[in-house]
Amino acid sequence: MTPFDAKLDATARRTERLLDELLSGDVRPQETARPARLLQAMHYGALNGGKRLRPFLVVESAALFGGDAAAALRIGAALECLHSYSLVHDDLPAMDDDDLRRGKPTVHIAFDEATAILAGDALLTYAFDIIAAPETDLPDRARIELVLALSRAAGIGGMAGGQALDLAAEKETPDEPGIVTLQAMKTGALIRFACEAGAIIAGASADDRERMRRFGEIVGRAFQLADDLLDLTSDAATLGKAAGKDAARGKGTLVALKGQPWAEDELDRLVSEATALVAVYGDRATTLIDTARFVANRKN
Ligand code: IPE
Ligand code: IPE
Ligand code: MG
Ligand code: MG
Ligand code: MG
Repeated sequence: MTPFDAKLDATARRTERLLDELLSGDVRPQETARPARLLQAMHYGALNGGKRLRPFLVVESAALFGGDAAAALRIGAALECLHSYSLVHDDLPAMDDDDLRRGKPTVHIAFDEATAILAGDALLTYAFDIIAAPETDLPDRARIELVLALSRAAGIGGMAGGQALDLAAEKETPDEPGIVTLQAMKTGALIRFACEAGAIIAGASADDRERMRRFGEIVGRAFQLADDLLDLTSDAATLGKAAGKDAARGKGTLVALKGQPWAEDELDRLVSEATALVAVYGDRATTLIDTARFVANRKN
């Protein structure tokens, strides 16, 4: 395990411990009850493996500006709830219709469709609960900014909107700018939020916040390009999810449009661009640069 892998793993374990606590059966103030089967499905959807890349980006971008580590971990866990919801719904029969995720049966297979829909709904809502809750020890202004930024990243103008464009693209293949836009929305927006969140948590300057947004945008592009490449070149056992499905479903991807060699070069280019962007932070940006490289070279 490289030092980077160890660092990623340590934050993943901390995130999982916190998620496990947050998704316990303990009824919180103003809640009435936590129905056991739904809670179990949420737990399964959020804690069934996964790289925990987004929480890592939150934690590391907050650390770059000296932000509170415990608060960053909570924002990371909130984002992971939202990301997990997006996967649970993405896998539904009405969407990508997948039965394998993170190496296990998808939530609608392990439970049932209605439970998967509701588990997604509840994970989405819980993300905002976690940010707004008093246990998130941040100034009110920071919490409101995080809620707003995550809402914009996840909703009509972000992930959910991008998922709609992605499904439409199965019927009519978009041109290159169209694919770039849909990917920036469906995947890029949450990754961009992860990077921007660190700056918000730390109360960093507007310039720093903008730079982290840009960094997140580039890493997000690299992330989906790698995902599309892996769908073409890898297999279900390595990925923990189905492979070869994008071409089968006629998904509009840049790999399909421009080919594998182009995609590999583009990944290198994006890593260089991300690296150049955070070079102003010197050695403090080493982990973020390693993360960009990890995203581009990942095997699952
Ligand atoms: C998969 O995201 C879905 C996409 C946005 C392409 P990840 O590859 O981060 O999935 P997990 O969380 O590690 O399972
Ligand atoms: C999913 O993109 C993006 C979101 C869940 C928002 P994909 O459909 O390519 O993700 P995988 O390949 O199923 O993980
Ligand atoms: Mg999809
Ligand atoms: Mg999918
Ligand atoms: Mg994919």
